[in-house]
Amino acid sequence: RAMAILRELEEKCGTPIGKLRQVADAMTVEMHAGLASEGGSKLKMLISYVDNLPTGDEKGLYYALDLGGTNFRVLRVQLGGKDGRVVNQEFAEVSIPPHLMVGTSHALFDFIAAELAKFVSTEGQGFHLSPDRQRELGFTFSFPVRQLSIASGTLIKWTKGFSIDDAVGEDVVAELTKAIERQGLDMRVAALVNDTIGTLAGGRYFNNDVTAAVILGTGTNAAYVERAQAIPKWHGLLPKSGEMVINMEWGNFRSSHLPLTDYDSALDVESLNAGEQIFEKIISGMYLGDIVRRVLCRMAEEAAFFGDTVPPKLKIPFILRTPDMSAMHHDSSSDLRVVGNKLKDILGIPNTSLQTRQVVVELCNIVAIRGARLSAAGILGILKKMGRDTVREGEKQRTVIAMDGGLFEHYTEFSKCLESTLKELLGDEVSESIVIEHSNDGSGIGAALLAASHSQYLEVEY
Ligand code: BG6
Ligand code: GLC
Repeated sequence: RAMAILRELEEKCGTPIGKLRQVADAMTVEMHAGLASEGGSKLKMLISYVDNLPTGDEKGLYYALDLGGTNFRVLRVQLGGKDGRVVNQEFAEVSIPPHLMVGTSHALFDFIAAELAKFVSTEGQGFHLSPDRQRELGFTFSFPVRQLSIASGTLIKWTKGFSIDDAVGEDVVAELTKAIERQGLDMRVAALVNDTIGTLAGGRYFNNDVTAAVILGTGTNAAYVERAQAIPKWHGLLPKSGEMVINMEWGNFRSSHLPLTDYDSALDVESLNAGEQIFEKIISGMYLGDIVRRVLCRMAEEAAFFGDTVPPKLKIPFILRTPDMSAMHHDSSSDLRVVGNKLKDILGIPNTSLQTRQVVVELCNIVAIRGARLSAAGILGILKKMGRDTVREGEKQRTVIAMDGGLFEHYTEFSKCLESTLKELLGDEVSESIVIEHSNDGSGIGAALLAASHSQYLEVEY
């Protein structure tokens, strides 16, 4: 019986290459629709107001705040300009107390500003602020925001584990600025960016060929450089660069071609944001472990997979985290010891047989592979939109995609599969010119760089 459940899952989660092409095509179609008009698509295709990416000329001391991943980070960086690049860099990391993720806007921003104030007070040697200057900050806020300018924007909705009603519709920079003032700190937010935009900016600083960024972490999303003229819904002035970076918010993508199962529907219905972020819910780190838990739960209930009783802990949502799933999936010991220990320690299931453990590994594999292959299809969709999915005659343009996030960084089976699937989709010749590059915490640096290029002192500096 348990095997029947597994085989049924495998079939429903299938991602043959033809299906992936359909998903990629649907992604490209939705990208066009989202760029055409506000509300034209599930893909919001948000305008970032970033029309110039870092050049290497950025200079001075800048701060960055990074909210929305597993951890909250504060960063300061001394930028040396043309020759110096990053002269010095320091950061601090804390996890957001869970009650603040579902509390009030005031409490969340007070917490962030207090951490920032603490961090600023430790500024020491190796960092230098030009005299008479206010400290400036890039704010990476990894949620969908309708930007009003480079340094303001209203929260459209929360995603991942956050749900704070009174912040929706508010300008998050205004909220942060008020909290900074409550701390008695003198600091200005110079840029508000999504983590994908920060990663793209950070990636470009170190590598000129970076034109897109993908986050695979707690959530998932992508950003890329679009031609301003290809954005019908943009009514502002045409930027000098002719370009505009777009935050796709691809986590909210959905298509009839996506292989969805009953487990996914149940997870969605019981989530903080039912009906939303469907692509994210089958790909990203916040959810993969819980999909596995749901399948195990059904195996226990309907096939006595773990004996006569259903282990009570299996019923607790999110008890099985993706890092634990990843550890089980990567278990290379002959008796699958890691799997055995995880089942015992996390789910309270002692003494599992090797055969049971093998089924668990296979289950992790099915769920991870679906996510990885769909991510590759999403990337193909972007490459198609950018016209970089084929080799043009006489032209071999390199395209680098900056990637970040815990899922990509730590779940090796996932990232390996993503990369091999992308190769499979693109074919050998095109694959040669498409590079996936891990940009470790590029988004913090990226936000600081964008703060620098939108500094209030810019005319003085350049
Ligand atoms: C980090 C970025 O490296 O990756 C964050 O700096 C981003 O901005 C994060 O949100 C995503 O990863 P995770 O796994 O922490 O959600
Ligand atoms: C969620 C957020 C998005 C962010 C992504 C990765 O999808 O909505 O803004 O980029 O997670 O952190």
